[in-house]
Amino acid sequence: MRGQFPVEKFKDIKTPFYYYDVELLQKTLDVVKMETEKYPNFYVHYAIKANANPILLDIINRNGLGADCVSGGEINAAIKAGFPSEKIVFAGVGKSDQEINLSLDHDIFCFNVESIPELEVINELAAAKNKVAKVCFRINPNVGAHTHANITTGLAENKFGIAMEDMEFVVSKAAEMKNVDFIGLHFHIGSQILEMDDFIALCKRINELQNRLEAEGITVKHINVGGGLGIDYSKPNENPIPNFTDYFKTYSENLILRKDQCLHFELGRAIVGQCGSLITKTLYIKKGIQKQFCIVDAGMTELIRPALYGAFHLVENISSNEPNEIYDVVGPICESSDVFVKDFELNQCHRGDYMAIRSAGAYGETMASSYNCRELPKGYSSEDFKK
Ligand code: LLP
Repeated sequence: MRGQFPVEKFKDIKTPFYYYDVELLQKTLDVVKMETEKYPNFYVHYAIKANANPILLDIINRNGLGADCVSGGEINAAIKAGFPSEKIVFAGVGKSDQEINLSLDHDIFCFNVESIPELEVINELAAAKNKVAKVCFRINPNVGAHTHANITTGLAENKFGIAMEDMEFVVSKAAEMKNVDFIGLHFHIGSQILEMDDFIALCKRINELQNRLEAEGITVKHINVGGGLGIDYSKPNENPIPNFTDYFKTYSENLILRKDQCLHFELGRAIVGQCGSLITKTLYIKKGIQKQFCIVDAGMTELIRPALYGAFHLVENISSNEPNEIYDVVGPICESSDVFVKDFELNQCHRGDYMAIRSAGAYGETMASSYNCRELPKGYSSEDFKK
């Protein structure tokens, strides 16, 4: 055992692979439960896009969370893992007819609708099945977030949601339709957000919008504020569990809820991010003129976040205790951006050493690709190594 990793048991397993610390996941879920129990009208849906590995879905479902899905595939994954359909929400700017029909067949809790054309199609498909689809409108609140530009979603320039100016019109449209039931408002401003002020800005905007609707005599039963709480990528050992206390408290103190109104959250990264590590084996140490490269067998195909967003993931040599040296840790893919970290201190590396690329539980395995005809990585539970 090196730190938290049973390295000696890794030798029979094909690298690279994802290692999920299910004890940490459970502890994280315990904190989510403890914090949300303070507010009886708060409901958390797990954003399946962050990680759809059945090992994790099973644990998350058993802990009572709902599921936030963005495709028919995710709805099927949620159902297969046992999530009750009345706890499934379905978001996404481009829902296909097939996906809408699948959701109608399962009588999911709610569609988060992003445009009038989509609302019309849902109404039509629901009518054909003699059903009434519950819908929330995803409103684009035009609130920025202090995070990477590619993962902000709540600005007017982003493709998501219905413009605030159109909210009343959309609501009146829904009222004319027989096969949709307008039950709430949905928002999401971005991901990997660590500044509570960003969530406060969203709360203020929702308060304004609720007042506007109330002036028209409309109150909704559900408010869904999306996900977005970030994790500490630089210190996963010191901060394995995100600050859920402040997160839920921020909403409780700043969002003015109406009587009997339910507040929904769609958290992905904060739930699963820290429990996953990508385990990779060192293939070669290559000494360049100014650099020393540690070439590992994982690449951007298994974890694309560094290449795509310039994201930092801590790398640890879990096979060596030797003095530190400086390396660029790179993958085998034929792309210059296939780099995990540059000029990074690691215990001296050798061929065959295992590396753990940390905080990779969210948007790691789900974003893996088979570029260069590579095999998709497998994910293992930490429990598998205790047998
Ligand atoms: N709800 C909606 C409507 C979303 O669009 C998202 C994420 C979530 C919930 C969950 O957000 P979270 O709690 O995980 O921040 N691939 C990127 C992240 C993309 C997030 C997209 N939407 C990354 O690797 O950073």
